[in-house]
Amino acid sequence: MGILRLSHVDVRVPDLDLATAYYTEVMGLLEVERTATEVFLKCWDETDHHSVKLSYAPRVGLDLISFKVEADEDLAELESRVERYGFPVRRVSRGESVGQGESIRFETPSGQLMELVREVERVGGLLPKVNPPPFPPQGLVGIAPPRIDHVLVTAEEVGEATRFYMEVLGFRLTEQLLDGNGHQIGVWMERSHSPHDLAVVTGANGGLHHFAFWLDDWDHVRKAADILAYNGVQIDVGPTRHGITRGNTIYFFDPLGTRNEVFTGGYRPDPDFPTITWTEDNIGRAIFYYEGDLNDRFMKVHT
Ligand SMILES: [Fe+2]
Repeated sequence: MGILRLSHVDVRVPDLDLATAYYTEVMGLLEVERTATEVFLKCWDETDHHSVKLSYAPRVGLDLISFKVEADEDLAELESRVERYGFPVRRVSRGESVGQGESIRFETPSGQLMELVREVERVGGLLPKVNPPPFPPQGLVGIAPPRIDHVLVTAEEVGEATRFYMEVLGFRLTEQLLDGNGHQIGVWMERSHSPHDLAVVTGANGGLHHFAFWLDDWDHVRKAADILAYNGVQIDVGPTRHGITRGNTIYFFDPLGTRNEVFTGGYRPDPDFPTITWTEDNIGRAIFYYEGDLNDRFMKVHT
């Protein structure tokens, strides 16, 4: 019961054609549907309608983060919990949002618009569900990740935001980064038994640091770096490894300046996983284990 996993990330782009070209030809997502001002994209192994939505807007930024819930009664239960916490909730009726049924939306204490949705149109993946081959179909272009993985947002008060995500929405804390006074300056939380579905680091309220796509192994990360470099995509950091999450990673920017990540590895936390703590004097190794240092661009976020 409760939140199952990330459903989709909706971002604003000032150049819809350029963004679509990058996300389909370099990132290798599939275009599912398009309106005059929106493009809906999914990864090849995802079966739901979309995992990324691009919307035309004059300024780059985050529209919303959508998580999928498991059961019909979860929407009403989480709606009342969010309202009891003091945050107004808006019901979005079926048909109001392309590719999905009823949902609820609210602003979180970290200032992002969050959506919870139960019913998403099933469009199917590229592999059959009966006797499929154990590898991607032929003919994919670009990096072609099998699925979206997680999102990292910024908050002025990480501890306050974390209380909301854990106590109200039921996220479990896998790792935390503490400053010298023991205050949380970064948290990594999960619902899907992965190292993180949602992470929060100190920064402006409402900010999107990055969203990440899953790759199946390190060899695919190496190949992704080849594709990014060949296409002239600005790589931010990597290929490298995170101390936190233990994942292998590349950070890079889409042509409008939104940071993307490809991610693999990590571990599989059960719901009773004891939280791992990092201290600020180890922040470099916590974020980029091989470099041992944050780059100057790490704090660049869109709000
Ligand atoms: Fe990440």
